[in-house]
Amino acid sequence: MIFAYLCDKMITNYKMKKISGRIYYVGVNDDDKVLFEGLWPLPYGVSYNSYIVVDEKVALVDTVECGFEEEYIGQIREVLGDRPVDYLVVNHMEPDHSSLISLICADYPDVKIVVNAKTVPMIRGYHGTPDERLLVVGEGDSLNLGTCSLNFYMTPMVHWPETMVTWLPEEKTLFSGDAFGTFAAVADDPRDAADVFEQYRDEMIRYYSNIVGKYGVPVQAALKKLSGLPVERICSTHGPIWETCLSEVVGLYDKLSRYEVERGVCIVYGSMYGNTAAAADALAIELEKRGIPYAIHDLACNNAGELGLSGALRDVFKYDTIVVGSPTYNNGIFPPVETFMNALAARLIKGRRFYAFGSYTWAPASVRLLNERAETMGFELLGNGLPFPQAYDSQKCDMTKLAELLA
Ligand code: FEO
Repeated sequence: MIFAYLCDKMITNYKMKKISGRIYYVGVNDDDKVLFEGLWPLPYGVSYNSYIVVDEKVALVDTVECGFEEEYIGQIREVLGDRPVDYLVVNHMEPDHSSLISLICADYPDVKIVVNAKTVPMIRGYHGTPDERLLVVGEGDSLNLGTCSLNFYMTPMVHWPETMVTWLPEEKTLFSGDAFGTFAAVADDPRDAADVFEQYRDEMIRYYSNIVGKYGVPVQAALKKLSGLPVERICSTHGPIWETCLSEVVGLYDKLSRYEVERGVCIVYGSMYGNTAAAADALAIELEKRGIPYAIHDLACNNAGELGLSGALRDVFKYDTIVVGSPTYNNGIFPPVETFMNALAARLIKGRRFYAFGSYTWAPASVRLLNERAETMGFELLGNGLPFPQAYDSQKCDMTKLAELLA
């Protein structure tokens, strides 16, 4: 789906785009990175979005990841010519957006860097930025650019403690940092269109669940704080600029941060010799027969194109039931499955139905331990689980009954 959008509309990468009378897009697509944050697969790439607001004064909003220096500066010069950048607004210090701060300081020696108090030690630590370069703003502060102004609102833990958003009322535009972001590169024209939200929906859920999923409460607080603004355009740091699909995007973030899910089953498993995998596949077949929505993820996969843990977390944020398969390994849970359970706990996942199964050879520990972990997280156990000895067969591990239970 995403490919259709990109292939139809992508003409050249790294080309400056005018978004409105005052706003220009100067972001880049990263099609080379394999794992975002060293963890999360990027089958469709990712964009690092940066924007320029051109008025009597010029403000750059966030930068991009290192490796794009030439393209990035080239785009800025294409917009500004010889005009200087007066302000660099740092909404977020994670290096995918802050890596080129030093480059901007070197190219524009008089630039003032707009930060909040929590950003100060981070920018010192990453870039050695001297205090005299910094313009420290707080909640509700405003920076006049001439005919328009930038207004700053703190949104801690969306995604780091220092995160803030920048509101440009004269353009009804919110520069939202990671909020409302998504994996997948953007088209040559990064503005959305009517069908773009549906094309990005899965990658937006995967981005939210992988990156921001731990912070549902702060995301809700930020949504509440910003709800009074008459936003007509969201310029996030990742993914399309949202204009046409604004209500769908905000609605999805609201739903995700409230941990709201639909009826359906997320089957996740790890398998050493294929027996737990066979049981997982048998369950998928039974769910399919009954028309029950489901997704299935192999947590121990090494196949290109499979999302493993990243996809499993995405679907945990979609469906109300988690069915986990793990063989007993060293009298415990198979390590990739243990990692998944830890990831659920880290994201404070709640309100899920849970069931466990898995093969063992001489001692059935994994299902018992999975149930204990699930109870600790407050999940509703749908039964004691299905540990089965040695090889899978449908007599030992009846997935028909389990599918009926899940219907
Ligand atoms: Fe895209 Fe939290 O950085």
